[in-house]
Amino acid sequence: MSRAALVTGASRGIGEAVACRLAEHGYDLTISARSLEALDTLAGELRSKHRVRVQTVVANMADETDVRQLAEAHRSAHGALDLLVLNAGMGSIGAFADYPVHRFDTLFAVNMRSAFVLTQELLPLLRQAGRRSRLGGRVIAVASTTGVVGEPLNSAYGATKAALISWCEAVSTEESGRGVSATAVCPGYVATAMTESLSEQVPPEEMIPVADVAEAVVSLARLSKGTVVPSLVLTRPGPHLWRA
Ligand SMILES: NC(=O)c1ccc[n+]([C@@H]2O[C@H](COP(=O)([O-])OP(=O)(O)OC[C@H]3O[C@@H](n4cnc5c(N)ncnc54)[C@H](OP(=O)(O)O)[C@@H]3O)[C@@H](O)[C@H]2O)c1
Repeated sequence: MSRAALVTGASRGIGEAVACRLAEHGYDLTISARSLEALDTLAGELRSKHRVRVQTVVANMADETDVRQLAEAHRSAHGALDLLVLNAGMGSIGAFADYPVHRFDTLFAVNMRSAFVLTQELLPLLRQAGRRSRLGGRVIAVASTTGVVGEPLNSAYGATKAALISWCEAVSTEESGRGVSATAVCPGYVATAMTESLSEQVPPEEMIPVADVAEAVVSLARLSKGTVVPSLVLTRPGPHLWRA
């Protein structure tokens, strides 16, 4: 039986790379973001190259109605969910002293609240996978090292990612007995559009390659439901280890 996955934030960067690797492994997909054109182009490539079913859904993760409609679109297109990749996210740095609270609210809605709502909606399908399949139902949330160790200018972004890490742990404690577990993948700087503005401080070739983050996600998805991985930290070479 073919496996089904939903990947958010799949229009570029890490999400696009994850969607490509999952299609290569035969997953039928729902891919989502706000940019329809990029999603449609990717879907066309994946369908013709890997002969998988790919549905595109435009959704703004800041909007709860969109998030619930995304879940419904996945349910009606595929009727099953083995892997949920919560990757959509936005970065925003700024000193805590005058960080605008409305920006914190948006960041939290996109990076954390959407994950909570989407997974709650799709939990019945994940539980079905937990019963049906040797691999179970898996949630993989793309968090960040800034959620593991606080860094300057990242009080808001880091807090959203720390919340994701804690939430993944709690979900696994509640659901892994039913074959559903959650992992927070926590990379340092990855060479994507999100880190372009940092390229003078950290050259892209010294950042974590996007392909390695996708490889980590695919590897986690291959584990049986007998193994729970609460979090996986990925750092670039050098003295940074727990820092981006
Ligand atoms: N790059 C890094 O150094 C790094 C490090 C650690 C963790 N991360 C995390 O990795 C994830 C992917 O980031 P990336 O580096 O691949 O960045 P990216 O290239 O900027 O991609 C972000 C993705 O999220 C989507 N997205 C952003 N805001 C959205 C919204 N309001 N609603 C729906 N989709 C939205 C974007 O699509 P649209 O713009 O089309 O909506 C895009 O597909 C994020 O959660 C990020 O926090 C990144």
